[in-house]
Amino acid sequence: MDDLISRAEALARHSDSAEHYTRTYLTPAHQAAARQLGDWMREAGMEVRVDAVGNVIGRYDAASSPRGAQSPQSPGAQVLLMGSHFDSVRNGGKYDGVLGVLVPIACVAELNRRGERLPFALEVVGFADEEGARYQTSFLASKAMIHGAEAMRPLLERVDAQGVRFDDAMRAAGLDPARTDEARIDPARLAAYVEVHIEQGPVLLNAGRPLGVVTSIASGGRHLVRVFGEAGHAGTVPMGVRRDAMAAVAEMVLAVEARATALGGVGTVGLVNVKDGTGNVIPGEVEFTIDMRAGDDATRAAIEDAVRADIEAIARRRGVRVESSRRHDVSAAPCAGWIQDQLEAAARRAGADPIRLPSGAGHDAMVFAEVTDVGMLFVRCGAGGVSHNPAETITAGDGALAERALLEFLRGFRTPGG
Ligand code: GLV
Ligand code: MN
Ligand code: MN
Repeated sequence: MDDLISRAEALARHSDSAEHYTRTYLTPAHQAAARQLGDWMREAGMEVRVDAVGNVIGRYDAASSPRGAQSPQSPGAQVLLMGSHFDSVRNGGKYDGVLGVLVPIACVAELNRRGERLPFALEVVGFADEEGARYQTSFLASKAMIHGAEAMRPLLERVDAQGVRFDDAMRAAGLDPARTDEARIDPARLAAYVEVHIEQGPVLLNAGRPLGVVTSIASGGRHLVRVFGEAGHAGTVPMGVRRDAMAAVAEMVLAVEARATALGGVGTVGLVNVKDGTGNVIPGEVEFTIDMRAGDDATRAAIEDAVRADIEAIARRRGVRVESSRRHDVSAAPCAGWIQDQLEAAARRAGADPIRLPSGAGHDAMVFAEVTDVGMLFVRCGAGGVSHNPAETITAGDGALAERALLEFLRGFRTPGG
């Protein structure tokens, strides 16, 4: 099959930064990567379209044999959708997301080379934006496919770090912000959604297994918090009378860490911005993000409630004002048992001995879980299991095994009762 590693390397050269791999929604590098994915999909035998929000979608039609479209017993004219995202975090890894587009493309190419068609259509999506690094969004592109304009409307006036409005970025990339609803697909056409992803953790590495079948995806929430204190002279204002927004935020960050730890989830402050920050000025306004996750919704809600109460108490005590807006809210998503079983059997036929494991990271599969059954295949992460880090890596052998396992899965795919 086509060399996954060299394709991932080639795609990573389409980067917003000359120093490291960063690819964010609708930048010139992002558009170049979209064109490259489209070319690879066409070479693999797919018809390609780019939808109203920039998702690249390749389609490989079903067989028109008697087993095909009309049989009520088979998935029929339905679509097995596979995909992942081709945007990245800043200074990220080359496989996060991209692997889940390249592996299905390689499988379709192999089917096409052999002249094989399946009893259902295959569609491969490269989601244009999942990480949301440019506009502080999350799962933007898969949400547009399910919820259309409703998912996009609140974002159109948002600006990026350079002050470029979201809707202007769309226009500059040849997309019409008034037509985002056209990205919506008909979920009734879907037989299932399956995503291949690098594990982004050390579980498979430590277990000595190249592949894993995901059981469920963790619940997640993200907030943007603004803290308003009073700016002042760093040399003249006595410590006792300050309303230092950054000192308040420092306490809030530690509260996130303590609550997430105590309640059995994870909590992260990954972005802090001191407005007009200067070495000799007491910070008057600070903005920061909080990302909170847990294996189930109730635990995540408990962490969010405890952190909210702590932030309010810290703000009262320090005389600062807080404004908070939710930026992300996604329920834990179980992977369908029947897809887990078929993925596991397929991986075994391909020669792997997979384990089952939950996903702590979020994935586009969570959005599709609102409308169809979903499954995920994890591929072992090298370099100690790091991800969201330029050291993120897989081996060529594991990549090839994932391709064989997915191909086996496609050939054997049956919906329950089908
Ligand atoms: C996606 O990368 C996430 O934040 O889990
Ligand atoms: Mn990621
Ligand atoms: Mn990802």
